[in-house]
Amino acid sequence: MADAELSIAEQIRQLRSEITRHEHLYYVLDSPEITDAQYDSLLRQLSSLEDQHPEFRTPDSPTQRVGGAPREGFVKLAHSSPMLSLDNALNEAELRDFDRRVRDLLADEPFEYVAELKLDGLSLAVHYNAGLLERAITRGDGAVGEEVTANARTIRSLPLRASTPLTFEARGEAIISRRAFDRLNEQREQDGLPLYANPRNSAAGSLRVLDPAITASRQLEFMAYFYFVDGQPACQSHWQSLEQLAALGFKVNPHRRLCPNIDDLISFCNEFDQRREQLPYEIDGVVAKINSIAQQRRLGYTAKAPRWAIAYKYAARDAETTVEGITVQVGRTGAITPVAILRDVQVGGVTVSRATLHNEDEITRLGLRVGDRVRVERSGDVIPKVVAVVASSPAGQPFVMPRSCPVCASSLIKLEGEVALRCLNVNCPARLMATIEHFAARGVMDIDGMGEALVKQLVDKGLVTSVADLYGLRAEQLEALDRMGRKSAAKIIENIHASRRRPLARLLSGLGISFVGERTAQILADTFGSLDRIATLPEEQLQAAEEVGPKVAAAIRLFFADPRNQELIERLRAAGLCFEQEIRVRGLGPFSGLTFVLTGTFPTLKREEAKARIEAAGGKVAGSVSKKTSIVVAGEEAGSKLDKARELGIEVIDEAELLRRLENQ
Ligand code: IVH
Repeated sequence: MADAELSIAEQIRQLRSEITRHEHLYYVLDSPEITDAQYDSLLRQLSSLEDQHPEFRTPDSPTQRVGGAPREGFVKLAHSSPMLSLDNALNEAELRDFDRRVRDLLADEPFEYVAELKLDGLSLAVHYNAGLLERAITRGDGAVGEEVTANARTIRSLPLRASTPLTFEARGEAIISRRAFDRLNEQREQDGLPLYANPRNSAAGSLRVLDPAITASRQLEFMAYFYFVDGQPACQSHWQSLEQLAALGFKVNPHRRLCPNIDDLISFCNEFDQRREQLPYEIDGVVAKINSIAQQRRLGYTAKAPRWAIAYKYAARDAETTVEGITVQVGRTGAITPVAILRDVQVGGVTVSRATLHNEDEITRLGLRVGDRVRVERSGDVIPKVVAVVASSPAGQPFVMPRSCPVCASSLIKLEGEVALRCLNVNCPARLMATIEHFAARGVMDIDGMGEALVKQLVDKGLVTSVADLYGLRAEQLEALDRMGRKSAAKIIENIHASRRRPLARLLSGLGISFVGERTAQILADTFGSLDRIATLPEEQLQAAEEVGPKVAAAIRLFFADPRNQELIERLRAAGLCFEQEIRVRGLGPFSGLTFVLTGTFPTLKREEAKARIEAAGGKVAGSVSKKTSIVVAGEEAGSKLDKARELGIEVIDEAELLRRLENQ
């Protein structure tokens, strides 16, 4: 008995260290060695061992990231030393002023800067006791913050156990990537929830929710930049403390540089001003810190900020300007979007002359009238938006939404439960133009050269009345258009033909089915593998795909039920577009890595449905039982497969249990 227990404890220990190593490779170093399915399978093995032997479960186990019931509120805790903010330099001259002050204070002694990116998130202090994550505290007012340990534990790049059993504090930034932010807002839009204005607000909101399961779903990251013991820097230089943090298993931003002088620091700032749009997360500047901790001590602090560091802030992404008019735009789904016409203004280095106002309710919420002075914001490559009225114009005219489509004059309709007005005429030229532009866009069918100007001409001249017409275009027809030479016409025809090879998911997202964007299209393609299946499966079966709920399934059915769309599909098929792909087991499903065998008749699910739901959850369904089978789902009158499963000692479950596991994802 004692031996067996020892070996279980040992198995658990080995699995934990293996899983922790893979989490570090994946979440911290961005260089996984195994597939998601292999990782899931390791985690499942560990979780099942711990279920059988709860006495071995410990809080640093990788299975224990999301735990505990939602809280009632947060406890306030004092920081080990104040979490100060930084003084800003808004341009190169101010940065040089800072450098001069430092040189004076250090009496011309040589010094170096460490340049780091200024991550746009919220700062967090995490305490480790003998290597174990013990407490996480938000910045709060700098002296006292809120204890958010349960939430912070769900951040996968934050080690639950450091690589060495030290007692220390790491401070850094909790951030959300642009991708995770976009997904989060997409989901919130679908759920009718208010959108987060920017990644920073969403990171802050996600850390301050009472239910850790919500934080876990937000995919926050943590990047460390201070290593403290007893509230003080514990290395000789800042650079060393960053290396120490990385060695302890933290994610430390790789974009950092030791700069021996102010010119190098300025180059770093300029270089990342150019590159910031390409980074997967938002930054709002560069933080420069004096490298030597001894010199930092000599420089000391003002009342609110250290004298040994400065934040170089990039040009603001917001600006004030005047609304000169409000017009409306017809989107490809017929949604009418009001757009503010602005007096030209520079926002973060780009001239902005229009900004979206989303819908009529938004104009009311802002209390916006033509003539008002407003603040506009750009974040990432998102369309600029009006965020607030700064001063209303006394003679301002309230805006009235048109009752008919500004392009085709059809009456506009507000569908139940929607805020947007829509033009329901599918042949509306505005919708057609937007549809074609979307179809040809990068990331969709990727037809290079098929931009707004060309699409407008093609639609105006009646050369294209549906996306299928693109594939019948001839070079001579294009040559007859404005500003179109022989060579470019030929090139565009070539690009159109090349687009026929785009994978199924691209085609699906190009069709413009409501709620089916890039991601959902990819999931549908991976789960069902063929356009014809997606076009014909009943709604319940479509919902077997991950993230496809009743609303999306209904929109898909509605789309394919329309005879005009059926005709479009047949024409695209005739043009030779790609309607099939391999069914892919999606990496992150709760069933990934598991092979199921179905046998007998189930009380509620049809065989096909059960299969689709297992596949949508990442599992595989095989025809016969073998040693490779993970689970057999048995219904009424299960025959020889059930016997075989028992013989091989394979887990057998019934439909109710299968459904329970699918629910518990
Ligand atoms: S150092 C006293 N380093 O910027 C030192 N801060 O304006 C203050 N931030 O509250 C922190 N990236 O939330 C530091 N690499 C970085 C940072 C960074 C982002 C944030 C942090 C801080 C604010 C200061």
